[in-house]
Amino acid sequence: MDFHVPPSDPSIKLTTPLALSPNASTPTHQMAAAPSFAPRNRRNPPDHVSAVDDTSLKLQHWELLSSQFTPPTPPIHDALNKFHPPRPDWYEEFYALVLSRAAESYEAEVARYKSQIFSNLRGKAQKILEIGIGTGPNLRYYASDSSDVEVIGIDPNQKMEKYARSSAASAGLPPSNFEFIHAVGEAIPLSDASVDAVVGTLVLCSVKDVDMTLKEMKRVLRPGGLYLFVEHVGAKEGSILRFLQRILDPLQQTLADGCHLTRDTGNIISTAGFSSVELNMAFLSKATFVNPHVYGIAYK
Ligand SMILES: C[S@@+](CC[C@H](N)C(=O)[O-])C[C@H]1O[C@@H](n2cnc3c(N)ncnc32)[C@H](O)[C@@H]1O
Repeated sequence: MDFHVPPSDPSIKLTTPLALSPNASTPTHQMAAAPSFAPRNRRNPPDHVSAVDDTSLKLQHWELLSSQFTPPTPPIHDALNKFHPPRPDWYEEFYALVLSRAAESYEAEVARYKSQIFSNLRGKAQKILEIGIGTGPNLRYYASDSSDVEVIGIDPNQKMEKYARSSAASAGLPPSNFEFIHAVGEAIPLSDASVDAVVGTLVLCSVKDVDMTLKEMKRVLRPGGLYLFVEHVGAKEGSILRFLQRILDPLQQTLADGCHLTRDTGNIISTAGFSSVELNMAFLSKATFVNPHVYGIAYK
């Protein structure tokens, strides 16, 4: 797997990978501050430097460098901390459990729309990336196409992994064809143009930065690749539903891990710079005030 964090956000530090030699990772300004340990002493130590002194010098050298050496933070974690700061363990566990239990009736109702858009993957997508995969309710749609399909699911909630893996197994996806990455949509740890399709369902309501996530999706999609989406959006301005959504929005964000009720996600996708977008609307009775929904396909 080719891990990569895009430099799209200048505030995300790109750090040097941990190197075997401490010199390789020590910033040059720190190196300059370090006294010069004369290699000249190694081969031809002056008379007053005994063999013991030489060893202790090397030890001191190593200790000094080690004290200056802060292990680099992998960029993937910087992005996680920035866009989805760690929640308490119990909260993540609870949210994953609720999602795994509550989804059944919703999934039954949304199945007709999902079947419609996911049928477009057949024969066109061998490598699929799902953003905010959660408990993995969409995996059954990929695996039915072909056992060759390779799925990468990213989610900042690590507790989703066991549910997603179990969904992958139930869907008949071989374990080697499914990968879960603990990451956010705003900084996808994959190379440019490396996937055939990106999927996101009920996730742009939850990401911190919608524009950045869409930019990242376009970056990792190959030319002509597909972005399949099902998202709930804010109801029409002036409607009673919209009024209720505005009142309930803060509570929803607290209880449902940052989910916003009033985002205009359909419009945002339509103007995100895809070469074409097919967008449809639906109202799902099981989703009550988390309505209406937009679903469709955007092409890179
Ligand atoms: C409402 S759940 C939907 C899960 C799944 N896609 C589904 O359709 O059931 C929202 C998911 O988005 C994930 N999420 C939240 N912030 C995210 C971010 N910045 N990037 C990617 N996923 C995120 C959450 O952890 C959660 O799994």
